[in-house]
Amino acid sequence: LTEIRDLYENREAYLDQKVTVGGWIRSIRDSKTFGFIVLNDGTFFEPLQVVYHDKMDNFAQVCKLNVGTAVIVTGTLVATPQAKQPFEIQADSVEVEGASSPDYPLQKKRHSFEYLRTISHLRPRTNTFQAVFRVRSLTAYALHKFFQERGFVYVHTPLITGSDCEGAGEMFRVTTLDMENVPKTEEGHVDYSKDFFGKETSLTVSGQLNAEAYAQAFRNVYTFGPTFRAENSNTTRHAAEFWMLEPEMAFADLEDDMMLAEAMLKYVINYVLEHAPEEMNFFNSFVDKGLLDRLHNVVSSEFAKITYTEAIELLEKENDRFEYKVSWGTDLQTEHERYLTEEVFKRPIFVTDYPKEIKAFYMKQNDDGKTVAAVDCLVPGIGEIIGGSQREDDHDKLLARMREVGMKEEEYGFYLDLRKYGSTRHAGFGLGFERCIMYLTGMSNIRDVIPFPRTVNNCDL
Ligand code: 4AD
Ligand code: MG
Repeated sequence: LTEIRDLYENREAYLDQKVTVGGWIRSIRDSKTFGFIVLNDGTFFEPLQVVYHDKMDNFAQVCKLNVGTAVIVTGTLVATPQAKQPFEIQADSVEVEGASSPDYPLQKKRHSFEYLRTISHLRPRTNTFQAVFRVRSLTAYALHKFFQERGFVYVHTPLITGSDCEGAGEMFRVTTLDMENVPKTEEGHVDYSKDFFGKETSLTVSGQLNAEAYAQAFRNVYTFGPTFRAENSNTTRHAAEFWMLEPEMAFADLEDDMMLAEAMLKYVINYVLEHAPEEMNFFNSFVDKGLLDRLHNVVSSEFAKITYTEAIELLEKENDRFEYKVSWGTDLQTEHERYLTEEVFKRPIFVTDYPKEIKAFYMKQNDDGKTVAAVDCLVPGIGEIIGGSQREDDHDKLLARMREVGMKEEEYGFYLDLRKYGSTRHAGFGLGFERCIMYLTGMSNIRDVIPFPRTVNNCDL
């Protein structure tokens, strides 16, 4: 079977030739002696128009086919210079590969994203989700390409872990204990020494701590995989299972970290603009009207940089408009992030040097004794897309901080070791992959950029 993509890419070679294609019927209509099928095979964003005539034996049967039917069409590809599509197939035959019931949920009318979420197994057959998931695939590839071209080693960090990287206690526990009959210690706690791993374990919230170990061997590494957070926040930007890309560089500081993040984002923007032009035009026309202009501006200008302290000064003047009022020491909420990036700077910004109390234990402490070398990258439409930092590379300072925040030291011996055996200054960040896809496509709900979303109260399909 010829792919529809091939017909579009090599149309000169196929014009006036016989071709056979397979695909699913997007729409079908007929008059007395002929009919039209809009056929999509998933290999190309644009569909193929099929014209069929009553000289076909099964004309009457074909006229009655339902949307969603899988068919094999053989016919001649002819140019249609006056029509919307550049060419169509004049069919000699239309064979049914698999019929579709009349109750097929994806009829020609536009369906709301909310409705399509309830049929996440069928939504990849729609225009919007064809575009989203092709861009998602290309973006994953572009990220690998970016880091591989720069010599970064891809490390597969584990998903089951005994540590809590972000220290936020938002972990999904992994256990084989029988919950009806759970073993207890003498003090009455759950006895995890009886569990599969002989201790309490969870799904990872971040691969960073393991990636750091490899950065201290390979210098530049990245990990890219699923991460899990039991955050009880039902927002359009939080998922319980999401993908994160995390580079880590030895002999690098916060400036290097920001340079890498900016180059990476610009690279993936350029990559999808170049490799998914049909999809990107579709988003620009039907999902987010200013998308292409905005992305073109991003690649041709520099990201802005401010410190947390400067950000708070800007935000405090506008406290009236915010639901959550800010002052030095408060964490930034989405409304603050979006105000800064959408209204003050109107482009992506890096906010650096946050108070240590609102950031993770591993961040390098600044000389002021109050802040750490953290950086968040905020983008219009979303807010935080990247969170990163220079890491604390001094053994004693790290240990002291771990004790201050009450961590179980014995679980982090490996992490302290890295500061004992040839410690280097090092830095890295985490890119929320779904947030990156939202940014690239203009889609406004994280549930619509991950194939089978897992969010509070939803683990369907
Ligand atoms: O800022 P976060 O929590 O940083 C870390 O996990 C670091 N260990 C990363 C590192 O330095 N290696 O998360 C990084 C990014 C956020 O900026 C956000 O884009 C995304 O991950 N993210 C989520 N995306 C979807 N759903 C959630 N619940 C998310 N939580 C974080
Ligand atoms: Mg963060």
